[in-house]
Amino acid sequence: MRRPYNAMFNRNRFKLGLFSPNCAGGMAITTVPERWQASWQNNLALAKLADDVGLEFLLPIARWTGYGGATDFQGDSLETITWAAGLLAQTSRVSVFATAHTAFSHPLMAAKQFATVDHLSGGRFGLNIVCGWNQPEYEMFGLALAEDHDTRYRYGQEWWDIIRRAWQSEQDFDWHGEFFKLHAARCTPKPLDGSLPPLMNAGSSAQGQGFAAQNCDFLFTVIIDTASGAETVRQVQAMARERFQRELGVFTTCYVVCRATQREAEEYHHHYAVDHADTAAVERLMSLMGMHAHSFPRDMIGALRTQFAAGHGVYPLVGDADTVARRIIEIAEAGFAGASLAFVNYLDELPYFAAEVIPRLERAGLRLPL
Ligand SMILES: Cc1cc2nc3c(=O)[nH]c(=O)nc-3n(C[C@H](O)[C@H](O)[C@H](O)COP(=O)(O)O)c2cc1C
Repeated sequence: MRRPYNAMFNRNRFKLGLFSPNCAGGMAITTVPERWQASWQNNLALAKLADDVGLEFLLPIARWTGYGGATDFQGDSLETITWAAGLLAQTSRVSVFATAHTAFSHPLMAAKQFATVDHLSGGRFGLNIVCGWNQPEYEMFGLALAEDHDTRYRYGQEWWDIIRRAWQSEQDFDWHGEFFKLHAARCTPKPLDGSLPPLMNAGSSAQGQGFAAQNCDFLFTVIIDTASGAETVRQVQAMARERFQRELGVFTTCYVVCRATQREAEEYHHHYAVDHADTAAVERLMSLMGMHAHSFPRDMIGALRTQFAAGHGVYPLVGDADTVARRIIEIAEAGFAGASLAFVNYLDELPYFAAEVIPRLERAGLRLPL
C-alpha cells in the first residue's frame, strides 16, 4: 500500500476532515460573535483535537483577499504551505494538505517546499491543486486569469508535470514546454521514500474533473443531493478508468450544525445564516462565483443565499446526531469515499460531533474505532 503512514490511505471506508479553518469565518458567512477566528492558536488547538479524535485530514483554502461585507469574510487567512508545516510539526496522525494555486508559485519552488514539508511530517503531507477561478486574486498578483478553462488546466498540467518530473528524476533535466523553459532543473530531496503524497483537486468543470482523473488520488466535489452526487461519482470514476486506467476516490464537502435536538440545530442554523448573515459578503462571493449569472428562479436564489451564508454553498448536515449520521451514511452509500466538514466554530463544535456522530458511523461500518 502507498504511504501507510498517511491517514488519507488508512483503512477507514469513509474519511473525514476539516475544511477552511485557516480562513476567518471558515465557511460560514455570518456576523455572530462566535464566528471562527483563524488565529494560529485556534488552528493549532483544532489540529491537535482533530489528531486526537482520529480525523484523517485538514484541508485549507488558499485565499489571498477577502470577500468584504461586515466581517470581510476570509479576509484573514493563514498561508497554506507554512500553515501545514506548522501543524504537521505538532501533530502525529492527521494528514495536512497545502493548497497551491498553480499560477502563483514557480513549480520548482513549490516542489522543494512540498518535499520539505513532507519530510518534516514523516510523509503526512497532502497537496490540493487549484487551477484558478477568482479574478480579483489574479489581478492582485498582476496576472491575467486565462479566459478559457483549457488554458488554465493546460498550465496546471505543465506545472504539475514539472513537479512530478523534479521529484522522480535522478538526473538534472531541461524542460521546453508551452509555459516553462528550464535548464538543468532538479529537486532534492525527493518526497519521503520517493512516493507521491496524496494529491487532490476540486475542479467542477469537465476540465477540472479530467485533471483529477489524470493526476489525482481524490476529487472533491460539491453536491446538491445524494442522487445526483452518486451519478457524478459514477461518471468521474468511469472516466478515470477508461481514459487513464486510474482509480479516483471522490469526496464531497459539507457544513455541520449538530445539536442535541433537531429543533435546536435548525434554530441555530436560522440564527447565524439568516438573522445574522453577512449579506454583503454573501452577495460578493455568489457574484464572483457566477451564481447570479445563471437564471435561477427567485425562490431558489433565496435558498442558495442561505446555503452560502451557512456554509459557502456546500452540502448541509443540520440536525441531531442521528440525522447528521444518517445523512453522512447516505453520502457514503452514494459512492463517496469521504467528506470535509466545516463548523461555525470548529473548536466549540467538533467535540460534540466526535462524541456523538463518529461512533454512529463506526457502528454503521464506515469507520473503525481508534
Ligand atoms: C473542497 C474544495 C476546495 C477548494 N479549494 C480552493 C482553494 O483553496 N482556493 C481556490 O481558489 N479555489 C478552491 N476551490 C475551487 C476549485 O479548485 C475550482 O477552481 C472550482 O471548483 C471551479 O472549478 P473549475 O476549476 O473546474 O472551473 C475549492 C473547491 C472545493 C470544492
